[in-house]
Amino acid sequence: MMQRALFSRSVLLAQQAAAALDSPLVGKSASVMQRMDHRSMSSVTIPPPACMLRPLEVPMRYLFGPGPSNVPPRVLASGSRPIIGHLHPEMYEIMNDIKKGIQYAFQTENNMTIAMSGSGHAAMECAVFNVVEPGESVLVAVNGIWGERVAEIAERMGANVHTIVKAPGGYYTKEEIEQAIEKHKPVLFFLTHGESSAGLCHPVDGIGDICRKNNCLFLVDTVASLGAAPIFMDKQKIDILYTGSQKALNAPPGTAPISFNDRACYKMFNRKTKPISYLFDMTHLSNYWGCDGNTVRAYHHTGPVSGFFALRESLAILAEKGLEESWRKHKEVAAYLYKGLEDLGLKLFIPDRDLRLPSVTTIAIPEGYDWREMLGYIMKHHQMEMTGGLGPSIGMVMRIGLMGYNCEKTNADKALHALADALKNCKKSKA
Ligand SMILES: *Cc1c(COP(=O)(O)O)cnc(C)c1O
Ligand SMILES: *[C@@H]1O[C@H](CO)[C@@H](O)[C@H](O)[C@H]1NC(C)=O
Repeated sequence: MMQRALFSRSVLLAQQAAAALDSPLVGKSASVMQRMDHRSMSSVTIPPPACMLRPLEVPMRYLFGPGPSNVPPRVLASGSRPIIGHLHPEMYEIMNDIKKGIQYAFQTENNMTIAMSGSGHAAMECAVFNVVEPGESVLVAVNGIWGERVAEIAERMGANVHTIVKAPGGYYTKEEIEQAIEKHKPVLFFLTHGESSAGLCHPVDGIGDICRKNNCLFLVDTVASLGAAPIFMDKQKIDILYTGSQKALNAPPGTAPISFNDRACYKMFNRKTKPISYLFDMTHLSNYWGCDGNTVRAYHHTGPVSGFFALRESLAILAEKGLEESWRKHKEVAAYLYKGLEDLGLKLFIPDRDLRLPSVTTIAIPEGYDWREMLGYIMKHHQMEMTGGLGPSIGMVMRIGLMGYNCEKTNADKALHALADALKNCKKSKA
């Protein structure tokens, strides 16, 4: 309503100005003459671009890739509510609700639970920047792109980075992890729970104990798995856990829940150096989110107000539905999809069904087909996004994501239909 009123007001002003300019010069007031001068000797040399004078166009797409996923109308509507100040008491209440929603989704009682103003990468950087100091040893499990990214982030801030590398889809035994931790004595060990570039859901039980025994913090990425596969932050002794908004949570991209337990807080609040990022400094963020016991919240940065509304709504939907029901649903729809893919003659990339990530399914690229051509065909003829691999899995897999709101058998049918059509119409190469 308000925007519309503003719009018609500016149209009216423009019309008045135009009328004034079109009328004969005789009897014109000085101010109109001045305005004319302004127009003929414009101070701007770059004219308004033609594209900006056209309305925004956004197509309807089935987002059946590894994210973002389609956002349900209720969450979209919450993001279009009026903006309030980021330091208004009502906003604090909404942020407190978000904190409770994350505690439920993560299964944690940690007070140091917030949402980053930024995508999943913001949470990755926040975790590493705050608990690691330059020169300290960090161990990263690299079995897809996400380990590669965290290793690079840690390297950039001057950590002494060690990796244990597996081919995409590979997983680690507890013995392998324990040996590497004993060897490199890291302050932080990173593991991806839902490796979306490979379609692997890595077992987490028991690793937290190994980390505790070796005085190392356990950092887990659940960007692609939260809400789709069980994770229990407290029970599984995960010291730092983060996720993103745009995958199984079905909120728009741009916010990222993260939680630190007491061990992680002790490490990050007893450092000798300041974290390299001001924006991601947990000393400030913990105050902004009311987690530092201080009743006064000071200005640090302006959070994405609409993004927080939408995140709250997506967490509310998860709370209403229940985690267990959400996990069950993802497993059921994934199993239905596996059967349909096998019926099409396609091969699942992760052979062990129990290690498959229920939110993102990877298939081996069918022999003789060009995966880029297939994905292009599916986008063109079915308005549907599926994707290829990412990082080390490029050229190895195609990925189908049915996450949260998209996780329905009817959507699995749509995806299977599109794939069958592409298999029929994208000609096999001679290779
Ligand atoms: C998508 C994804 C990320 C990165 O999230 P962005 O919101 O794109 O920054 C990190 N980890 C995993 C496992 C992901 O699937
Ligand atoms: C978290 O904060 C609440 C409220 O300030 C407090 O009662 C509780 O003891 C805190 N819990 C932990 C684990 O620090």
